[in-house]
Amino acid sequence: MGNQQTLTRRKFLEGAIAGASGLAMAGSNPPSASADARTWKYGVVATGTRARGSHLPILRDYFPQVEVVALCDVTPENLQQGLKVYGKNVPAYSDYKKMLAEHPEMDAVVVVVPNFLHAEVAIAAFEAGKHVLTEKPLATHMADATRMIEASQKHQRLLAVGFEMRYSLLFHRMAELIQQGAIGDVEQVFAGLFRGDWNPHSWKYTDPRTGVSTNWRFLTYTSGCSLMEDGIHELDVIHWLVNSQPKVIQAQGGNNVFRDRQTIDNAGVLIEFESGARCNFGFSLFTPGTPDALVMRFYGSQGEMIFRREPEIQYIDIKPYHGKGETIQVAYSQPGEEKVWNDILKGPHADGMGNDNQISTYRVHREFLKSLETGAAPFANGEGARDAIHIALAAEHSLRKGEIVPWESRDIIL
Ligand SMILES: NC(=O)c1ccc[n+]([C@@H]2O[C@H](COP(=O)([O-])OP(=O)(O)OC[C@H]3O[C@@H](n4cnc5c(N)ncnc54)[C@H](O)[C@@H]3O)[C@@H](O)[C@H]2O)c1
Repeated sequence: MGNQQTLTRRKFLEGAIAGASGLAMAGSNPPSASADARTWKYGVVATGTRARGSHLPILRDYFPQVEVVALCDVTPENLQQGLKVYGKNVPAYSDYKKMLAEHPEMDAVVVVVPNFLHAEVAIAAFEAGKHVLTEKPLATHMADATRMIEASQKHQRLLAVGFEMRYSLLFHRMAELIQQGAIGDVEQVFAGLFRGDWNPHSWKYTDPRTGVSTNWRFLTYTSGCSLMEDGIHELDVIHWLVNSQPKVIQAQGGNNVFRDRQTIDNAGVLIEFESGARCNFGFSLFTPGTPDALVMRFYGSQGEMIFRREPEIQYIDIKPYHGKGETIQVAYSQPGEEKVWNDILKGPHADGMGNDNQISTYRVHREFLKSLETGAAPFANGEGARDAIHIALAAEHSLRKGEIVPWESRDIIL
């Protein structure tokens, strides 16, 4: 059973503990191709926009030690396009259970289905003995998220989450500076994602009761909620950088412009953390989006930290309340990432946010592969991802019910 034998329970647990305690990102080079290097066999479930635009090209171009041995999608044209992008004639399936049953040699599954299906596909993969890298959000319910974490532990398989912003050099540098006391204690965060509307070509979910087909991002059932589909990356980074558990969450929001859907198009979220820090997070779909889509400003007891981005370089400005400020340059890439970075710069993205997300998605795969080889838990793991959906669910519950939601409310059902 492949790496099942190499990843003993002890090693898995030791690795999981080590990974959970550290903020530092592992080195920049992909796992090296040593004499005894083995090939890792992956299945990819769903070949929609994200899989075709990121996961498949990244695996194809930068990870010769990974072989995609099967693809799966319920939409035949997307499956065909996925095969075309990957460029090899691998077995293609419309049923992920059949794919799992027919590929005992498969080590890992990359889960890129719409949000409401993450839990069922990931749990089936764990039960079949596979490791899982799932797209965010971890799940659409807390209970499902917990079931995924438990299945990963029960079957001693890794659970990694596609929170690429956790692998951004910019946010790692900001976390490091905050830890070093560059702005004193973080007391306030002013942040927002003004991202533009969802992809109009998203897969359509057909309601079995009514037969009506709807963009899956427009429905609570299939997306979780708008803040779960996006905004969750930023809420996760804020949680990581503030480094304190939320205490209470409240929000307002609704559909001010896009009234053709269940899911909201704007929100204002307030989070009070145990440390006393407060966060004000804005979210909007009716904006032009990039290049100024993302705002994140940290105010500490001794000063302010903000970031600015240009397509090829990023800056962190630290302004103390008294004395001279400083600007720190942060590159988008590290030594060893030149090829990936040059390819990104030649690509269609013209803004720093897109560039950073692309190179960080490459690192999601690199770190997952390292975890497969070492047994260490990835930095973007199940526990952190469950906290992130908890924040998004609490905010959505608050804006619907007008209630302030304490962090202890673990089972929020929208
Ligand atoms: N990390 C990021 O920055 C990022 C960016 C975009 C999307 N995502 C995530 O990626 C996931 C997919 O998003 P997308 O943009 O590709 O959506 P999409 O609508 O473009 O594609 C979804 C695909 O899933 C397929 N599908 C639906 N049900 C299926 C099933 N039962 N089995 C197999 N395939 C099935 C559809 O046919 C479609 O091809 C979502 O979870 C989304 O949140 C993450």
